[in-house]
Amino acid sequence: MYSGCLRDCNMDTRNFGFIVVLICILITQAKAEDPYHFFEWKVTYGTISPLGVPTQVILINDKFPGPVINCTSNNNIVVNVFNNLDEPFLLTWNGVQQRKNSWVDGTPGTMCPIQPGTNFTYKFQVKDQIGSYYYFPTTALHKAAGGVGIIQVHSRPLIPVPFDNPADEFAVFVGDWFNKGHKALKNLLDGGNSIGHPEGIHINGKSAQVGTQAEPSWTFEAGKTYRFRFCNPGMRTSVNFRFQDHDMKLVEVEGSHLMQNEYMSMDLHVGQCMSVLVTADQPPKDYYLVVSSRFTKQVHTTVATIRYAGTNIPASPELPPPPPEKTAGIAWSINQFRSFRWNLTASAARPNPQGSYHYGQINITRTIKLVNSRNYIDGKLRFALNGVSHIDPKTPLKLSEYFGLAEKEFKYDIIPDMPPADIEKNVKIAPNVLNATYRNFVEIIFENHENTIQSYHLDGYSFFAVAIEPGRWSPEKRKNYNLEDALSRHNVAVFPGCWAAVMLTLDNAGMWSLRSEMWERFYLGQQLYVSVLSPERSLRDEYSLPETTQLCGIVTNLPKPPGYV
Ligand SMILES: *[C@@H]1O[C@H](CO)[C@@H](O)[C@H](O)[C@H]1NC(C)=O
Ligand SMILES: *[C@@H]1O[C@H](CO)[C@@H](O)[C@H](O)[C@H]1NC(C)=O
Ligand SMILES: *[C@@H]1O[C@H](CO)[C@@H](O)[C@H](O)[C@H]1NC(C)=O
Ligand SMILES: *[C@@H]1O[C@H](CO)[C@@H](O)[C@H](O)[C@H]1NC(C)=O
Ligand SMILES: *[C@@H]1O[C@H](CO)[C@@H](O)[C@H](O)[C@H]1NC(C)=O
Repeated sequence: MYSGCLRDCNMDTRNFGFIVVLICILITQAKAEDPYHFFEWKVTYGTISPLGVPTQVILINDKFPGPVINCTSNNNIVVNVFNNLDEPFLLTWNGVQQRKNSWVDGTPGTMCPIQPGTNFTYKFQVKDQIGSYYYFPTTALHKAAGGVGIIQVHSRPLIPVPFDNPADEFAVFVGDWFNKGHKALKNLLDGGNSIGHPEGIHINGKSAQVGTQAEPSWTFEAGKTYRFRFCNPGMRTSVNFRFQDHDMKLVEVEGSHLMQNEYMSMDLHVGQCMSVLVTADQPPKDYYLVVSSRFTKQVHTTVATIRYAGTNIPASPELPPPPPEKTAGIAWSINQFRSFRWNLTASAARPNPQGSYHYGQINITRTIKLVNSRNYIDGKLRFALNGVSHIDPKTPLKLSEYFGLAEKEFKYDIIPDMPPADIEKNVKIAPNVLNATYRNFVEIIFENHENTIQSYHLDGYSFFAVAIEPGRWSPEKRKNYNLEDALSRHNVAVFPGCWAAVMLTLDNAGMWSLRSEMWERFYLGQQLYVSVLSPERSLRDEYSLPETTQLCGIVTNLPKPPGYV
């Protein structure tokens, strides 16, 4: 089609501008020729018993966890999602950067939900990324019902990976579970109450206790090494995982290859993913993978069985101990975070190599400190960032902005970048949208004055997680930042009474969700959007509204504005 068009072009200097545009289209088109993976997904309710009690869950193609997206950097992914639920539905692709393409990010601020009985086709490219990510629903409280699956992005052939090819790889979702079901939980939140505490922890939708005769979840061949990709898609609970008698070598966290260290147990906070290698180097028998909740009043523990092929000797009932809890546990977990160092010599896919290697030397153009709070407004529970508890307007923010109707639906920059000390006192409910400048290098501080752990995620980017420390942040604390080899990732945990700092270049135009990954907090307002617009409104910086985008709210029947050029 495009070559036909090119033949028809009059190669005349007067048409030079036109040809430049054409070449741009051709380049975009050429990049789009990376391999495609097509998926057709049927989203339905089903019943499974992650904790032994039947609950309504969301299945994708009758599976929980849902289908694996197994791909390679720069592959194109096309997912036709059929919503067979009784409620509008959206999936987001946690950690997939959607470069120039927030149109398909799947958050309520970027897309109209897929109505029941209809389908929508997501099209995106996993551009310049490797690593472990996952998809999950962002509508209603669907996240409490599953609808999750792993996205594993391999390095391109010939790009060296800093460890030998594992014999196999296993996706493991570990997180908390509520038996009440997502509708009852949503009713609690809509009524101004908390969802309370989970009833337990599951491993890939199952839970077992020591001594019960469980079918093995994985089989090891003696002497071989396996990659486990762990993700925590839970509602609110950090977990710790550990293998009986086997150390783990941590090799990848949310798209970064690390300096490889051995660990006996790992903390995994809500929304995080990491890959560990485990070698089958122990006497052949069964072993447990143990997962327990962290920083909770009641500690929940669950196990899954690994069997060495050809044996049938039960696992020992003696479990490896969990790390400490309370203050000592926080210190333990912060130390573990600090032991994560980016392997600067390992090749990887990076969107912005110039920006990423020397992030410590770039001048900060904006510092935003975000303080979370828990409040009651008119007797109803809400959560806020810098005094604003976010609410989604009727139209996805990205759409009203693109149609030039933003001022009808929301105001930009209603929170201060540096909140005053009493910011938690006066909280209001409104759409919370930052107007950010394209290509600025920003520092975001998350300061947690509450006594519960927080977990934050930013769509559209990886950031450098340069510090987590106890107490309050001040500019002098910058001297404690890791400005050499911090991990580039999309999630950071903020412990009770602590702060965390991240740095990034805002080089991906779009409307991006910055949110608590703890879903009661997200649902009740602890989130905001960062609007990054390229002043040129150029196709080089952002794709135009895709033809297939569904419209809703105040833009429903409006003609689509001219696209970017
Ligand atoms: C996943 O993709 C990688 C890279 O394309 C390939 O080597 C591997 O065999 C795939 N795994 C599965 C289970 O399809
Ligand atoms: C819905 O699915 C049909 C059949 O696969 C497909 O032709 C159509 O393009 C899909 N619609 C959308 C909006 O993706
Ligand atoms: C870092 O990556 C290099 C290059 O792939 C690899 O040779 C080296 O072993 C890695 N270092 C560590 C400590 O993991
Ligand atoms: C960063 O700021 C310092 C002090 O204002 C200035 O001297 C330096 O040139 C700046 N560096 C860059 C790379 O802009
Ligand atoms: C956003 O900020 C830029 C300056 O960085 C300014 O030019 C623009 O008018 C602002 N947009 C809105 C809607 O406030």
